[in-house]
Amino acid sequence: MKIAHISDIHFNYGTDFNEKVYEKAVKLLNKINPDLVFISGDLTTDGLLSEYDLAREKIKEINVKPAVVPGNHDERNLGFKLFREVFGETDFIRNYDNVILVALASSEPDKDDGRLGRGRHERIEQAIKKKNKMTVIGFHHHLIPVPNSGREANIIEDAGETLDIILKNEIPLVLMGHRHVPWAVKIHKTLLVNAGTFSCNRTRAHLGYTFNIIDINKDKIEVTVINVKKGEQKKVIEFNLSDGCCFNRYYD
Ligand SMILES: [Fe+2]
Ligand SMILES: [Fe+2]
Repeated sequence: MKIAHISDIHFNYGTDFNEKVYEKAVKLLNKINPDLVFISGDLTTDGLLSEYDLAREKIKEINVKPAVVPGNHDERNLGFKLFREVFGETDFIRNYDNVILVALASSEPDKDDGRLGRGRHERIEQAIKKKNKMTVIGFHHHLIPVPNSGREANIIEDAGETLDIILKNEIPLVLMGHRHVPWAVKIHKTLLVNAGTFSCNRTRAHLGYTFNIIDINKDKIEVTVINVKKGEQKKVIEFNLSDGCCFNRYYD
């Protein structure tokens, strides 16, 4: 199974959204032809109606109908109401061939901080009862600090409890965004993956505009980062679930 993990598009009429980069990124994405596209939030910058209208139109350019959760920016200015109109449920469990996706809204109206809370923790526990499929959890905010993203801010408030549920249940894959930095690290038997920004001009240093392709084959998860402007790809993670071995090339 091939998952395209994209994040932080930031559709906007100000300086955030880079349309040229978006068009190129979508072309690359469609060529890869993933089974699932997961967007981990911040589709807008201010949660405005004009931004959601733009998002509604532009998202159609992606050939696969994406699974989408909101980010902190999407909740601004009553944007949380518009998110539901455009993308539907903010929290859902969806079944794919080999994977069960638990998609959760970590964002709250007019706050940059995130949290999941007990209700969402229960949803995670419900999903993992279906043992025949690999559980993948996705939300916007990060669970642990992300290197190269500046001073720490906005880790979900209940990160400790969330991490505890994820680690003790050996959930193999967690997908996040928010920091505009592509990164991944394995803790215990879990791979925590952050996507960089797909098309927002607020990139960091030379990290550029990126998205992740995640290949899941039986007991192996591979993460490849696609650099949109350079058109380059780099396989950064090979995580073997059966022996726990994980090659991490983010540190090359
Ligand atoms: Fe963002
Ligand atoms: Fe964000």
